[in-house]
Formats: sequence, C-alpha cells, structure tokens
Amino acid sequence: MVVARVPFIAGNWKMNLDHLQAVAFVQKLHWALKDAKHDAASVEVGVFPPYTDLRTVQTLLDADKIPFALGAQDLSTQDAGAYTGEISGAFLAKLHCGYVIIGHSERRQYHAESDDVVAAKVQAALRHGLVPVICVGETAEDLEKFGASAVPVGQLEVALEGVPADADIVVAYEPVWAIGSGQAATPEQAQDVCATLRRVVGDKLGADAAARTRVLYGGSVKSGNIASFMREPDVDGALVGGASLVVDEFAAIIRFQKHVGV
Ligand code: 13P
Repeated sequence: MVVARVPFIAGNWKMNLDHLQAVAFVQKLHWALKDAKHDAASVEVGVFPPYTDLRTVQTLLDADKIPFALGAQDLSTQDAGAYTGEISGAFLAKLHCGYVIIGHSERRQYHAESDDVVAAKVQAALRHGLVPVICVGETAEDLEKFGASAVPVGQLEVALEGVPADADIVVAYEPVWAIGSGQAATPEQAQDVCATLRRVVGDKLGADAAARTRVLYGGSVKSGNIASFMREPDVDGALVGGASLVVDEFAAIIRFQKHVGV
C-alpha cells in the first residue's frame, strides 16, 4: 500500500518572538504565502511559538482562518498539580495546539532530559490528543564514535515504548552538530538516517505506521537547501529553527515544491 505523506514544514521559534512580534510574523507569513498561491493541501505549515505566544497566535489563526498548524515546544510529563513552572498537555489541547515538540536536543542538553523523560512526555502528549514531534539526533562526538544512526535509533526506540500502533506521531531527525551551525547534513546523510528511523517505527508500531509517519530533517535548513532534502524519499519535511524566523526565507522554504526538479 502506498501512502501519500503530506510534507510538513515546521518552524521551531525556540525562545524568540514575543506575542506581539508573533502576531505580526504570522500575518506577514500568511500574506507572503497567499501572494504565491501557496496550496495549503500540498504542504502542511506548522508554527511552534513560545508558550506565552500560543494564545495570541491561536486567536489569530482561528479568527482569520489561517491554515497553519500550531504546536508547543515542550510539555509536562504530568497532567495537573503541584509542578511549578510546568505546562500540561491539557492546556495545550485547549489552545488548539495540534502538535508538541518533544526531546529537542536543547531540552536534552540544557535540561538534562533523559530518554525516559522524553518517553513519558510522548505518553502525556498522546493522552491529550496532541501529535508528538519526537526529536532525535547525534552529537558530533556520537557521530565520530558510533556513526550517524546508533544514537537516534536508541533515542527513538525508548520514545516509542508503549505507543499504540495507530498513534499519530512525527519523527524529527536533527543531528546536533547541524543545528544552528550553518553546516547541514547532506541530503544523503539525512535520507540514510530518516530511512533507518522509519524502519524503527515499522519494527515498533508496524508497517502501516511506518508508511504513514512523517519523518522530518532539521539542522540548518534554508530556502537554498530544502529542495535537495525533499527529493529524498524518506524525508517528509523539515523542522526549521533560525530560518523560520525570517518571513521571506520561511515562505520560500514552504514553497519548495516549485524548486523540486528545476
Ligand atoms: P536551525 O534550523 O537553526 O539549525 O535549528 C534547527 C532546530 O533545532 C529546529 O528544531
């Protein structure tokens, strides 16, 4: 069975753009894509603002019927209670978030998030009907010691523990050495690891899940290299950091189809 996977271009704003800047950004992006006759059915666009922007962005998306998906950058393993500073998946679902990034390397690195915490967060997302965007990737040191796939495969195997076969998930391969470095993986490297991660999804959740699950590449994606990644059969989109903060650049990444095969 051949399943068409709608490409997903997701902008992870990280700790950038306050709620006023977020409104201006989303409006400008919408206009930029309207002018270009961007076809909302051929590519899904997602924005992942800081928590404090979510309410404002959600209101704008709903009011103006802007067809962007909304996601958060993290969530708590817990649903409610005495967890100061934490944000429940229940709150995110109420704000019409469809997605939540889990296990980003910056969470793993600066907040010591273990694979087990990541797995608990995946479960928390699924409890609230949020699609987890599960981030995995190797550091430069891992790459040297173990090659590209070993660490991301191990991370994904733990994250998928207890995930039902029919769960809607997204996997993002983000080599840590490529994030914010201007040094993207080659399309061949991205394809190799994304294909391997798809096999892990297949082993854990079955063939249907492997065929349907979108596997993204992230790390120094720009308008100039997106087409080369999207030509690869197992790369279904991109998780974009820095370039998702520049309207024209992000719009050009979203319109990548125009460049494919040119
Ligand atoms: P850059 O696109 O800035 O390299 O960041 C990638 C990333 O971490 C997205 O989650």
